Amino acid sequence: MRRGSLFTLIGLGVLAGGIATAVAVLLPWLPSPASREAGRIDFVFWFVTIICIVIFAVVAAGILYAVVRFRAAPDDDSDGPPTHGHTGLEIAWTLIPTLLVVAIGIVSAIVLAKNDALAKDTLRVNVTAQQFAWSFQYPGGNNLTSGTLRVPVNRSLLLTFTSKDVIHSFWVPEWGQKQDTVPGIHPTLHITPDKVGRYPVICTELCGLGHATMRTYAIVMTEQAFDRWLKGQTKATGSPNPATSGAAVFKNNGCGACHTLTAAGATGKVGPDLDDLTQSAQKAGQPLQQFVETSVTDPNAYVAPGFPKNVMPQTFKSLPKDQLDALVQYLIQSSKKG
Ligand code: CUA
Repeated sequence: MRRGSLFTLIGLGVLAGGIATAVAVLLPWLPSPASREAGRIDFVFWFVTIICIVIFAVVAAGILYAVVRFRAAPDDDSDGPPTHGHTGLEIAWTLIPTLLVVAIGIVSAIVLAKNDALAKDTLRVNVTAQQFAWSFQYPGGNNLTSGTLRVPVNRSLLLTFTSKDVIHSFWVPEWGQKQDTVPGIHPTLHITPDKVGRYPVICTELCGLGHATMRTYAIVMTEQAFDRWLKGQTKATGSPNPATSGAAVFKNNGCGACHTLTAAGATGKVGPDLDDLTQSAQKAGQPLQQFVETSVTDPNAYVAPGFPKNVMPQTFKSLPKDQLDALVQYLIQSSKKG
């Protein structure tokens, strides 16, 4: 090969590689990682991307060079010279991809093993998914339940998922992993958040009419702030279980995703407005308390005019009696104020 051709090829390779690198680096493809696992996944991502850019540069340089250098004259219809393989070349294009794929496999296996390794002091939180809300249950005897996921920074966290109805999918983009919640099984997800902050929790599996509203936040706090919050939650209501206040039941079960209730700052539009329950009960021809309770536990028994049937989840009949009573009282009192 002439020296001039070699320079041209290298020049084309550098140009193609430079453009591909700019596209990879300058566009914000991924959120910046906020967990150790996401950092490792990012490493695999860049490892593969760099390999791809090098291969792309070599292939693009060869193609561009061949297109220009060996272009046939406009009226040249003759065949090219026959060739019969090239053992050296065939070994090279088999061996190099094999080595690269094996390397990617080894790096991925190491990252997966590290990402799944729990620490000794792993914090275990149970996550319940239901149409259309997330709730988080903390360990300990007090059944602390929260509508937002609060966790300490730099501590290993194991989420165990339960779905009450259909398949949902838990996703915090900055944590780099997703997990489907499948009814009947309890998958887990291991995360070690390493940046204090507030991150969106998003449902990424179409799960019904309120799917788009099935969002909350993951709040990563310093260890001290988390301990203070945990203690405060247990004391807050004087009750060992703060989740039994009507307002908490409303919040933890995601009612606000679909309903408007001024007292709760909820503005959902999927289901009927809960600010005028008295009128709704009159329209339904039922006493207020009975109307509210039945509407929660058996939503298809009476569907408000203008709203479709089978949209409200039928899972709330499994609410513990104390929580159901608190919720019904809360709704009745809030709607009278509204
Ligand atoms: Cu739950 Cu989409």
